[in-house]
Amino acid sequence: MSKTKVVVLAAGQGTRMKSKVPKVLHKVLDKKMIDYVIEAAKEAGADEICAVVGHQSAMVKAMIGDSVSEFAVQKEQLGTGHAVMQAESFMGTDGDVLVLCGDTPLITGKTIKELFDSHRKDGNSATVVSVMLDDPSGYGRIVRNNNSFDKIVEQKDASDEEKEIKEINTGVYVFKASDLAESLKELKNDNAQNEYYLTDCLEIMKNKGLNVGVMIADDENEFLGINSKLQLAQATKIMKKRINEYHMVNGVTIEDPDNTYIGKDVVIKPDTVILPGTVIEGKTEIGTDCIIGPNSRITNSIIKDCVTVQASVLLSAEVDNYTTIGPFAYLRPNSKIGEHVKIGDFVEIKNSTIDDGTKVSHLTYVGDSDVGKNVNFGCGTVTVNYDGKNKFRTTIGDNAFIGCNTNLIAPVTVKENAFTAAGSTITFDVPEGSLSIARAKQVNKPDWRRVNE
Ligand code: UD1
Ligand code: CA
Repeated sequence: MSKTKVVVLAAGQGTRMKSKVPKVLHKVLDKKMIDYVIEAAKEAGADEICAVVGHQSAMVKAMIGDSVSEFAVQKEQLGTGHAVMQAESFMGTDGDVLVLCGDTPLITGKTIKELFDSHRKDGNSATVVSVMLDDPSGYGRIVRNNNSFDKIVEQKDASDEEKEIKEINTGVYVFKASDLAESLKELKNDNAQNEYYLTDCLEIMKNKGLNVGVMIADDENEFLGINSKLQLAQATKIMKKRINEYHMVNGVTIEDPDNTYIGKDVVIKPDTVILPGTVIEGKTEIGTDCIIGPNSRITNSIIKDCVTVQASVLLSAEVDNYTTIGPFAYLRPNSKIGEHVKIGDFVEIKNSTIDDGTKVSHLTYVGDSDVGKNVNFGCGTVTVNYDGKNKFRTTIGDNAFIGCNTNLIAPVTVKENAFTAAGSTITFDVPEGSLSIARAKQVNKPDWRRVNE
């Protein structure tokens, strides 16, 4: 069987976005809009994907990277048909080619699969997905003759009568590659926009007596094309609802779905509660029986079971069972927090491991450190990890007790069961079981008066 090939059109600038960033790179929640399109194609079984890029192609290529198998460059944007021509060698003349637009992030793999099925079942040369819209303005209209496909007319070329048609072209098609290649050769640009319209290929095929089918989809939301920041916000709202509903159906409690933002790749186990104002992004995984939020941002992190995260930010961090984070904690990349740990208010952890049972309750910075089990940090501890040039590590053994306002000047080790006195600045290692006092001794001057009094 020949491979399933997909061409994604992404060469346009997206003038109406009023942005220096090319349109398809704008984000819906935590992902670029074109990523959703590529993923939907893969879900539907795409083997090879070619993205047609043009406007700021270097940037678009770099951002899409190897999630597609190849790129075709359209130097001048002379229309959707011209864009597809640039992928001629990729498409070849075997099997079918799916054509998608990079600016329709709400399309689903399920719909694409249905399109393939309908196309193959009917033995079509082309099948286009249409949808009925109350307000079809701006879209190409599907013109029918005795109920079967006749042609697609763009808004700018449509007669008043054609403008009344509510059935629109979603811009999603499957073609038999050999028939598409032939019809592309016959495309002309004698239309209102002087562009080579891909839509004309369907009319060319029909006129040759080839089968052109229309699959009417029922969820118009899937085909929302993003042309402006307004539509970007609309798409984000729909995507957010779709993702939140998925999690709720799976047993996750989301108290206020309108005010909870979860990325598509996030995994959450049942019986976890997500409170309002929470943003969960990237490849984050959250276990069961957790309470997350309110007002937290969690990116690319792994949270095990029975964890509480309140009003905190976690970036590429790992948190083990029964640990509490926050309020107002900041876990920066490569922080690994053990079980039954407490990371309290105004605590920042960076590139550090904190082992089971340790408490870092208040106003503390732990950076580049390896901390053992059941350590207690007094309020206001600072690991002094940076000398202006290099970073150094701090090591703290099991059951150590770090007094309030201790500075630990790295590289330094506080051994197991050791203590540091409050207010100490520790510059060399503290042996196991000992108390280190590193501060000026208190001196009381009796009967002290201000000189000028
Ligand atoms: C297109 C369809 C219209 C359909 C609508 C659905 C044509 C002629 N019209 O119109 O029937 O209702 O989509 O959303 O196909 N692109 C290129 N190179 C170009 C021009 C466009 O890569 O030279 C890309 C754009 O980046 C975009 C996609 O093709 O991803 C669609 O282009 P756009 O200009 O938005 O087409 P519409 O006018 O919306
Ligand atoms: Ca469009």
